[in-house]
Amino acid sequence: MTSPGKRHWELHWQALRQEHSAFGKLASVVRRLLLSRAVKHYTSRYFPATGRFVEAGCGTSESSSRINRHGRQLLGLDFSLEALREARLNGTFDGLVCADIQHLPFRDETIAGIWNLGVMEHFYPHQGRQILDEFRRVVRPEDGILLLFWPPTYGLSRWVLAPFEWLRSHIVGRVFQFFPDEVNRLPSRAAARKTLANSGLETVRVDFTPRDGFNHLIVVARRSAP
Ligand SMILES: C[S@@+](CC[C@H](N)C(=O)[O-])C[C@H]1O[C@@H](n2cnc3c(N)ncnc32)[C@H](O)[C@@H]1O
Repeated sequence: MTSPGKRHWELHWQALRQEHSAFGKLASVVRRLLLSRAVKHYTSRYFPATGRFVEAGCGTSESSSRINRHGRQLLGLDFSLEALREARLNGTFDGLVCADIQHLPFRDETIAGIWNLGVMEHFYPHQGRQILDEFRRVVRPEDGILLLFWPPTYGLSRWVLAPFEWLRSHIVGRVFQFFPDEVNRLPSRAAARKTLANSGLETVRVDFTPRDGFNHLIVVARRSAP
């Protein structure tokens, strides 16, 4: 079993960019007005003040447009060129990296912080494990932080989008989804802690909060003590 591939994501971003994509516009508004504020809050509160920081699966970068930079170097990483093109226009990052999140092109223990939103749920557990192992490998052991906005089984977005997907699937006669398959939503806070612990990561806290419209479990983690 594998997660949606690069081509799948390129088509997703192309479809959202089309002039007539009402969902694309709505998703962009949610990212810019709601999610970006939550990302600003958590990165300001938990990320170290200086160093290199990577959004792993950055998409268009809109969710990260409000991060306080200070002494931080912000890198956006994605394997979709379509998404990176859009991210470049938005100007959120100091650098963009086209790479696979499962094989990060960074040296061991060199990254001060890694974050992502709406990414982890697209990978089967064995792939998620590989990604978390990679995060652990590259993050600074003394103060590095991981910040994962990982949708729970029943977050607000599911309740809102599922009826539309169901209706449209019936009308067009084939399965319709707003996003590529979400095969690994988090069932609970305990599941988050256990999943991260399996990769040698210690969960600092897990929030489910109106700050991001109850869309994600927000997991703050660091490397476990040796
Ligand atoms: C649902 S989008 C989320 C994008 C962004 N974080 C946001 O809030 O809009 C998931 C992103 O992960 C990227 N992605 C999926 N699989 C990937 C992989 N194996 N390596 C790198 N990026 C990947 C996709 O191209 C897509 O941009």
